[in-house]
Amino acid sequence: MNSLNRFWSVVPAAGVGSRMGASIPKQYLTLHCKTVIEHTLSRLCSHPQMSGVVVAISADDQYWQKLDLSGYVNIHLAEGGAERCHSVLNGLHGLSEMADENDWVLVHDAARPCIHHDDISHMIETLKDHPVGGLLGLPVADTMKRTGAEGNVLQTISRDNLWRALTPQMFRLGQLQKALQTALDDQFLVTDDASAMEHIGLQPRMVEGRADNIKITRPDDLSLAEMYLAQQEKQQ
Ligand code: C5P
Repeated sequence: MNSLNRFWSVVPAAGVGSRMGASIPKQYLTLHCKTVIEHTLSRLCSHPQMSGVVVAISADDQYWQKLDLSGYVNIHLAEGGAERCHSVLNGLHGLSEMADENDWVLVHDAARPCIHHDDISHMIETLKDHPVGGLLGLPVADTMKRTGAEGNVLQTISRDNLWRALTPQMFRLGQLQKALQTALDDQFLVTDDASAMEHIGLQPRMVEGRADNIKITRPDDLSLAEMYLAQQEKQQ
């Protein structure tokens, strides 16, 4: 294992995005002249260190074929699964046909279109010699409370060393496949790729990312992402 291993991306894009309340999956909504997923892929594919991208789409996806991805090099498809973790695992299986098991994989949500090249470069530079890998995150800024089911506050939680987990999450291909498969076999609830690595006893490294790397989840997020994309364009 050394830093000469290549870098790839797996993009889970098989969700329906029910919290958006839209008639089409959120990754295909239009934002700043392109679909959400086109923004995401254009940023990943154009990063100079990226060897290729595997996108996991739903078996009954009706929108992918309508995209014009002619300018995007080295995109491969895999079939999505029931949950995000199944989509990621299918993407990793597809990737293993062309990548080495020690190559690095940056798993990135299709629904995060504002991912900036600086975040990708910073993550690669920080983690490329790390034994496990890690993820982008943001330190929690607000005071954190835990409530009971009825909504009354039970506890104030210290926000020291507390982070919001973002993507990309960067791990070695073989190790991440093993971690996700073990977690699924153990019926462990996989909330993100890092949690599967933690489940097999490893400690991913947290890397502070940019605050504009938001996930499109609710309708208001679209206008926020539009603003960030316009702002990033101006700064180029
Ligand atoms: O729903 P959520 O925002 O958590 O989804 C995160 C990412 O995982 C999205 O890009 C979504 O398309 C993807 N996903 C997937 N397969 C699923 C569910 C979600 O690829 N079964």
